[in-house]
Amino acid sequence: MDLDNWVDLAGSAPLNGIVELTRRFVNPDKVDVFAAAGLAPVMTAREGPYFWDGAGRRIFDAHSNGGTYNLGHRHPELVASLRDALSVLDIGNHHFLSGLRVRLAQELVELCPGDMQYSVLTATAADAIEVAIKSARRATGRRLVVSAVDSYHGSTLGSMAAGDTRNAEYFHSQASRDDVLQVPFGDAGALADLLAQRPVAAVLLETIPATAGFPLPPEGYLRTVRELCSQHGALLVLDEVQVGLGRTGSMWAVDFEQVAPDVLVTGKGLGGGLYPVAAAVMTAHAGGWLRDNGWGHGSTAGGSELGCVVALKVLEIMQRPETLNNVHRSAEQLREGLAKLQAEYPLLVDVRQRGLVLALGLNHEAGGRLMTAHGFAHGLWAMFAAYDPRYLQLKPGLLLTEAQTQELLALLAATLESVSKELARC
Ligand SMILES: Cc1ncc(COP(=O)(O)O)c(C=O)c1O
Repeated sequence: MDLDNWVDLAGSAPLNGIVELTRRFVNPDKVDVFAAAGLAPVMTAREGPYFWDGAGRRIFDAHSNGGTYNLGHRHPELVASLRDALSVLDIGNHHFLSGLRVRLAQELVELCPGDMQYSVLTATAADAIEVAIKSARRATGRRLVVSAVDSYHGSTLGSMAAGDTRNAEYFHSQASRDDVLQVPFGDAGALADLLAQRPVAAVLLETIPATAGFPLPPEGYLRTVRELCSQHGALLVLDEVQVGLGRTGSMWAVDFEQVAPDVLVTGKGLGGGLYPVAAAVMTAHAGGWLRDNGWGHGSTAGGSELGCVVALKVLEIMQRPETLNNVHRSAEQLREGLAKLQAEYPLLVDVRQRGLVLALGLNHEAGGRLMTAHGFAHGLWAMFAAYDPRYLQLKPGLLLTEAQTQELLALLAATLESVSKELARC
């Protein structure tokens, strides 16, 4: 096997049987599901808001892998930081103290809302969710976690069991009713009833649930959740893995209600798409175990020093005024453009938007799914919402220029046109 040409190896092999080889050695069902939608997506080259597929077509990445590519693919400053770091560092030793871990932990503590004290650095966000759950259980001496119906927090046993039940049941790993209970997102009454009946360790919510198609929290909901948690001695854990880090137009999605969680989980974009790093940032109370059980959570690659270097650069870029200004400009451009598309295409019945957190709702039960498939044919990559396939999730990069934002709108128009035509034929 020729390992010299990584770009070819990553993606151009559809021409060399990557589909069949993936079916054989990696994940047959994934191949079949994509094939049913006429897709076999791979990435060869990648740069800024684009990647190139196996056929050499340039694709506009409007999904950004859930926010992983918030700053685009291979942001030059991030690539340079990682290159520099690689000339002197490795992942470090997770048992040791590390100045880089201190800097990243402190930066996150200072950037998060409320009175945060510690950052537990992990390699994946699912790990950080596990840390959040463990911390809440230890701090409260209780076991029960309350999460939202149709939520996704990761695929490890604990994070999976805390989210939508289907995969957990499939793997015979569903939580008992003493471990996890769910309430509808946005229903403060249901949460109030539950908290009044049962001692709860943590209320775990995505600030805006991605896989459900980004239903926006009703006005005042998160403030009420905060009050209920404080009243009943439960910790509030907010999962900002997809919607944090500037995507809504402020550093954290929860900032719009000025609510301070006890634990905030971040990941994906924190590593700039170059080096995996995630974190559970927590108050002194939530992180009490860190004062008496320093090895209570071990992870060889958690808080890797290479990841810390990239994450510190990500946070530096995020704090430049021009970054959030660009989010506001691009979000406004999309708001206006999508309103026009809604007037033009009756199929587009709903636009959910907070900054660059967007979901398009179609008047068809598989509308989002069709948009994903037709979009790819037009050179647009955006994923439908798995728990509500009427919706297409849009998570464009935060650094789009005006011309690139316009290009995204044109691609959406072309996609809506062909989905409308297909549905008219049915
Ligand atoms: C909201 C949310 N939380 C947690 C996770 C888990 O992240 P990771 O894949 O890094 O474990 C994801 C991943 O998609 C996510 O979307």
